[in-house]
Amino acid sequence: MGRWVLLALALSAQLLQSQAYNVGSSSNTNGSYGENGLVMNYYGDSCPQAEEIIAEQVRLLYKRHKNTAFSWLRNIFHDCAVESCDASLLLDSTRKSISEKETDRSFGLRNFRYLDTIKEAVERECPGVVSCADILVLSARDGVVSLGGPYTPLKTGRRDGRKSRADVVENYLPDHNESISTVLSRFKAMGIDTRGVVALLGAHSVGRTHCVKLVHRLYPEVDPTLDPGHVEHMKHKCPDAIPNPKAVQYVRNDRGTPMKLDNNYYVNLMNNKGLLIVDQQLYADSRTRPYVKKMAKSQDYFFKYFARALTILSENNPLTGNRGEIRRQCSLRNKLHTISKR
Ligand code: HEM
Ligand SMILES: *[C@@H]1O[C@H](CO)[C@@H](O)[C@H](O)[C@H]1NC(C)=O
Ligand SMILES: *[C@@H]1O[C@H](CO)[C@@H](O)[C@H](O)[C@H]1NC(C)=O
Repeated sequence: MGRWVLLALALSAQLLQSQAYNVGSSSNTNGSYGENGLVMNYYGDSCPQAEEIIAEQVRLLYKRHKNTAFSWLRNIFHDCAVESCDASLLLDSTRKSISEKETDRSFGLRNFRYLDTIKEAVERECPGVVSCADILVLSARDGVVSLGGPYTPLKTGRRDGRKSRADVVENYLPDHNESISTVLSRFKAMGIDTRGVVALLGAHSVGRTHCVKLVHRLYPEVDPTLDPGHVEHMKHKCPDAIPNPKAVQYVRNDRGTPMKLDNNYYVNLMNNKGLLIVDQQLYADSRTRPYVKKMAKSQDYFFKYFARALTILSENNPLTGNRGEIRRQCSLRNKLHTISKR
């Protein structure tokens, strides 16, 4: 009996906390499967502790290495936006195929070994039950909370893909200097509208960008749209036109509050302190500028549409039912004779 009271308390606490941002593409939280085969609390019977174990690991890792939360947030984009949320991002290269992690778009991705830490904690409790794809998505959700962002209830039930999608990564992930029209159309194909794109790029309110992705805005000529004070800062951090690829030279994405997921990103854009060309274009383009202004003014507005866009991203074309597998180890697909029958 006591267990149920606790469960009810925990549930209502979570609802209270999350109500404001439970604005996902699909609002059915009553246990019914959506068209894409995902459902709230998929592991309710098979591994009831799964979501709490993941949340706890994310919190513990965040205490030791704050930048793990940046990685969980970036991962959901790099996995889900490339055809499917299927943890293909996590696969290592094999003799036959190169991993997504090794493509140019993945430059700077880090902390994969700590994702294994989360997976191992889940496997200790429920071996072979929880997919790496769901761990990747839920760790992003929980990482956002560590960074001070909104809590977003998300569905589960994704299964893990068996193939690297490295060959098509560039068709889905825009480059740092892509035109805004291309960026908008790539996201629109996933069901994320213009406002959603502006909100989602607010992820660049945390973390860092290496000089290789920035120097073309500084050398040989300085991009005239950049704030002069920010140019000085960027040149200080990136003193060479051709940065040594081995040197760890980078600029923080949001100099004001680099560790917080907040709307200061939009304030920066309005002050011509956007780091990447794609960032700065959000303020330069008339389609996106109104949303930048609104998000700069209201953190709540930013959080609301960030949570909504994150939900859509997390539901992009998942593998469900008996497609894919439940990987034992996130960086390796299962050997065929050990494929989980669950
Ligand atoms: C037009 C789309 C996007 C482009 C072109 C882009 C590009 C980049 C680039 C070039 C970096 C710097 C990597 C480095 O030098 O280490 C970066 C960092 C980052 N991106 Fe994006 N990004 C995009 C969208 C997103 C989205 C949608 C999210 C999450 C929802 C995201 C989350 C992050 C995070 C958290 C970092 C910091 C990572 C760290 O410090 O480890 N990005 N992005
Ligand atoms: C709740 O589940 C039923 C099916 O059991 C479904 O028809 C209904 O749309 C769901 N409610 C919501 C709000 O999604
Ligand atoms: C974007 O930057 C890359 C270098 O990172 C460069 O090779 C490419 O030509 C640039 N594209 C455009 C459209 O400027």
